[in-house]
Amino acid sequence: MINVIVCDDYNQLSNVAFEIMLSVIKNKADATLGLATGSSPIGLYQNMIADYDKKKTSYKMIKTFNLDEYVGIDVHHPESYYSFMHRNLFDHIDIEEKNIHIPSNMGDDLQKNCDDYNKLLAENVIDIQLLGIGSNGHIGFNEPYTAFDSLTHIVDLKQSTINDNARFFNNDTSLVPKKAITMGIANVMAARKILLLATGENKAEAIYQTIKGKIDESCPSTILQRHNDVTIVVDKLAASKL
Ligand code: F6R
Repeated sequence: MINVIVCDDYNQLSNVAFEIMLSVIKNKADATLGLATGSSPIGLYQNMIADYDKKKTSYKMIKTFNLDEYVGIDVHHPESYYSFMHRNLFDHIDIEEKNIHIPSNMGDDLQKNCDDYNKLLAENVIDIQLLGIGSNGHIGFNEPYTAFDSLTHIVDLKQSTINDNARFFNNDTSLVPKKAITMGIANVMAARKILLLATGENKAEAIYQTIKGKIDESCPSTILQRHNDVTIVVDKLAASKL
């Protein structure tokens, strides 16, 4: 079931997302969180940090699993998702480094890294999976026509995604990695609860398809219609085609 919450602006969206995230953490001190990078969750992460500063909500027992990581840039590159997550959230709360999981892009055997991540995900059910969405309906880096039963795997990024992400690489598409490791769609669907955030007009068609479109691998996010606990929080622009 998909519950849609339309917000006036990004600030309100981030507050609504924070309340949902906080209720999971308050109910379960050792919750497992599935996290995302990108622009959409930054306000939510800022709210989590502000709440940690003021109210000392503890993350000592929380485990996290990130959706994805680029391949071909060093893990300490400022735009790696490892760096993004530490800069925007982990460095500012009391989470233990050992409880942080991000697909590893290191070493020669990336398939083994995928297999190891799948094994960990099989052992740890995600209580809440945070998602952004691509303008083409991708979730994680599961681009159109990724199999709905996919697990963690290596992907070639679509040109549209490379273009979307060039803003983080001096607007130079040649600097954007061309491959990534991503949790698969089946891993995402295994989460107990899913929270998807989207803003802006360029997400409106993807949001429309997610909620009202035919469930089809041509738009990966349409699979969410088969999950029993999805909340989509959007601003007015992203909701404009609903
Ligand atoms: C990020 C991820 C991507 C983004 C999506 C939206 O970990 O997996 O699917 O969520 O590309 O990105 P933003 O939020 O920057 O619009």
